[in-house]
Amino acid sequence: MPKAELHLHIEGTLEPELAFALAERNGVKLPYATEDELRRAYSFADLQSFLNLYYALMAVLRTEDDFADLADAYLARAKEQGVRHAEIFFDPQAHTARGISIGTVVNGLARALDRAQENYGISTRLIMCFLRDESAESALTTFEAARPHLHRITAVGLDSAEVGHPPEKFKEVFALAREAGLKCVAHAGEEGPAAYIWEALDILGVDRIDHGVRCMEDERLVARLAAEQVPLTVCPLSNVRLRVIDDLADHPLPAMLDAGLLVTVNSDDPAYFGGYADDNFTAVRDALGLDEATLRTLARNSFRASFLDEATREKYL
Ligand code: HPA
Ligand code: ZN
Repeated sequence: MPKAELHLHIEGTLEPELAFALAERNGVKLPYATEDELRRAYSFADLQSFLNLYYALMAVLRTEDDFADLADAYLARAKEQGVRHAEIFFDPQAHTARGISIGTVVNGLARALDRAQENYGISTRLIMCFLRDESAESALTTFEAARPHLHRITAVGLDSAEVGHPPEKFKEVFALAREAGLKCVAHAGEEGPAAYIWEALDILGVDRIDHGVRCMEDERLVARLAAEQVPLTVCPLSNVRLRVIDDLADHPLPAMLDAGLLVTVNSDDPAYFGGYADDNFTAVRDALGLDEATLRTLARNSFRASFLDEATREKYL
């Protein structure tokens, strides 16, 4: 089924095999002897325990070639999964903090994305995320460093450790992004409370909410999200792996659809969470008993919620 992927961290597509290949190429020593040993570390207690490994493995990403290879490997997998359009997050601060320039990151990713339509039949957009557990000043510095590259960037986002880092902290940088004509999204209501979703809407002015599953704890918020058809980029396998949800069979996805929310299904960090885009569709179908019509609605929602221009979006609806 043709679908758009709207919640995908490119650094979260780093498969063990590529991690070891890049480690070798760059002379980086990983604290794991084998790919299997690394895979055994993919047992997470919460968001932070995942983030610790996610940031550590990024040490192997050093050159434009590395970022191009990473993105190209994702696109090849995405094609097999029926992805026709991908809006891809990247975390510049996770790289600049290691002495890798933002130009290296963006130019490397862009090299793969510029050939994605031709090579894989996938249209792409880039979304630059700020790390919410870093300071507001660091986000502002990052935005200024990204200015020469903004023609390649469609939106800004907000990710990393959520609790204790409310959206309000990033009010200024999101205002600058909007002034520069960028779209805005933010992770909210994954581990953090429904109040963070209100803040992302009212203070950051976001166009979509990433995750957002905890909106279900607030009836007024659900009514607002449904009335305004604010897209929610839900990531079912991620939610289970990070223990946001105990069991996929208990996932609120069906209740979210019943409430009239504009829900999409996405893979988040597929190399770490056990599945790419279509694997998430298959998993929710099997665990929640979703029928064909509902799966088609989810696929259609992914295009409705995308930042594609109206005419292109219509072609998929
Ligand atoms: N949540 C927050 N930050 C992230 C995630 C996530 O699921 N994946 C990569 N960075
Ligand atoms: Zn995410």
